[in-house]
Amino acid sequence: MCGIVGAVAQRPIADILIEGLRRLEYRGYDSAGLAVIDPVTQQLRCIKTAGKVQALSDAEHAAPAHGVVGIAHTRWATHGKPEVRNAHPQVSGSSIAIVHNGIIENFQEIKQELCAEGYQFASDTDTEVIAHLIHKIWQRERRDFFGCVRQVVARLSGAYGLAVINSEQPDSIIVARSGSPIVIGVGIGENFIASDPSALGQVTDRFIYLEEDDIAEVTRDKITIYNGTAPVNRETVRLHLDNDEVLKGHYRHYMQKEIFEQPDVVKNTLQGRISKTQILEQSFGVAAKAFLDKAKSVQIVACGTSYHAGMVAKSWIETIAGLPCGVDIASEYRYRKVLVPQDCLFITISQSGETADTLAALRYAKTLGYAGFFTVCNVANSSLVRESDVALMTFAGREIGVASTKAFTTQLAVLAVLAVALAKRRGLSAAQEKDYVKDLNQLPQTIVDTLALDADIKQLSNDFGEKHHALFLGRGVQYPVAKEGALKLKEISYIHAEAYPAGELKHGPLALVDADMPVIAVAPNNELLEKLKSNLQEVSARGGQLYVFAHREAGFQNNAGLSVLNMPHCSKFLEPIIYTIPLQLLAYHVAVLRGTDVDRPRNLATSLTVE
Ligand code: F6R
Repeated sequence: MCGIVGAVAQRPIADILIEGLRRLEYRGYDSAGLAVIDPVTQQLRCIKTAGKVQALSDAEHAAPAHGVVGIAHTRWATHGKPEVRNAHPQVSGSSIAIVHNGIIENFQEIKQELCAEGYQFASDTDTEVIAHLIHKIWQRERRDFFGCVRQVVARLSGAYGLAVINSEQPDSIIVARSGSPIVIGVGIGENFIASDPSALGQVTDRFIYLEEDDIAEVTRDKITIYNGTAPVNRETVRLHLDNDEVLKGHYRHYMQKEIFEQPDVVKNTLQGRISKTQILEQSFGVAAKAFLDKAKSVQIVACGTSYHAGMVAKSWIETIAGLPCGVDIASEYRYRKVLVPQDCLFITISQSGETADTLAALRYAKTLGYAGFFTVCNVANSSLVRESDVALMTFAGREIGVASTKAFTTQLAVLAVLAVALAKRRGLSAAQEKDYVKDLNQLPQTIVDTLALDADIKQLSNDFGEKHHALFLGRGVQYPVAKEGALKLKEISYIHAEAYPAGELKHGPLALVDADMPVIAVAPNNELLEKLKSNLQEVSARGGQLYVFAHREAGFQNNAGLSVLNMPHCSKFLEPIIYTIPLQLLAYHVAVLRGTDVDRPRNLATSLTVE
């Protein structure tokens, strides 16, 4: 999604703003802009460019923006094409500038009203209405700019995180949050704002997270926060943002680095949660026990890759713990009538903790009578973490590549522990627990062994360079793995890819199979192997080219129509984690071969804070 940065300082801030935008570029990158207030002339200076933050940086270097107060934005287009006129900041008159993340749902109504009063619109954005509305009220009242913005915010419906400056009130930034995160970075004699603290790691380690419907006035030495009509205090937290983490090191892309970090981050995520023989459930926190004791069923809600993790977890929770488990896509769940069984535990899964649909689903679920709310999340202090009863953190570190990889495998590591914790309440023996825990302890090394296939997979990827479509097949708990493989391939290589449970092939998709349609299958040596083999015969018989990631004892032989890649041995329990890894590598190498922007695929963004 879009990213926001701002500063109220006593020193020039253009470089701080641009560096902050670079750090947020993983969230949105089709245009960028900044607005600063010149301390001498007190004039607003705005620079906007299409494309990546580098273009904005070049433009600013060519004609420097002198200012000590300002706001900046990197955009992922929702209303209006990615063009300069639609980039933020959006400006009204000669004094008001605003940057905004989210969507204003009643913007058409406000726009009509403003047009009738003579306001002219230069962009197609919903954001411009906020700029003009603030301008209108400021022109009328000419005092208490904070109060003017509060009046405007009260008229907005939808989701927003926004920041406003006014060159006629040049010593403050006003920020507001409703559905889209805003943090204030606390400095000494200077303060900062951003949509994500990672933007401000170079200037502070102290942060105040705005809560829902907070609005704040930030000056160099004072931060005033209101919620409704009442002033409120919000805690200042210290965050150690490890800058090394955001460097690519010797890797060519962040995605590649993140794939290879998986042994370490999975190990970090499991650390403290398992001993050599047992699940250490107390690591879930004291609050978790009562909810787990009570749960008679589970409902999981998530989006995208996190939803695929939920599909795997459903299988684990049902087969290992014997509890019924539903799994829904958040954007659907939030709008459907839901019947909640008694004592059902609600679990969201999210890398960012800010995905608007998942957050809305959680808020909706809270009105429905669930027994408790867990989140499996990678970002401490995120909205989902703060609004859930229990947060089971994944310790994946920051995921910068837009295509999620290490977040997925760490989510599965947490969910595997959770499934065993639930199973213990339903008669799992100590010996069975020990077996599961042994598998989990071996997991990081099995990931290392799997990553050793990288060179072979790179070789394999050459077959995909010219393809336009691909089919992914899996059965049982491997179906979500196939879905994740298809999602990875389509999002970074732009090859159209679909996943099917292999038994479904004959019910339609088999019609697509010919020599130009590569079919990728995941084939661990499990009880569905023989069924899968029959399904793959159907592909071979129609001249389809098969690529099978198979257990070495699964009995596949390379031949003209079949390329086999033997996977290292791993426990049946954790096969979904292990079999995902070659599919991540395949997508990565195909994307590199096709020359796409691997870390920032077109039209996509990390952390979708709009519906
Ligand atoms: C795909 C991907 C997305 C996210 C989805 C949910 O690679 O990254 O599908 O998984 O947008 O995001 P989170 O997990 O942050 O809620």
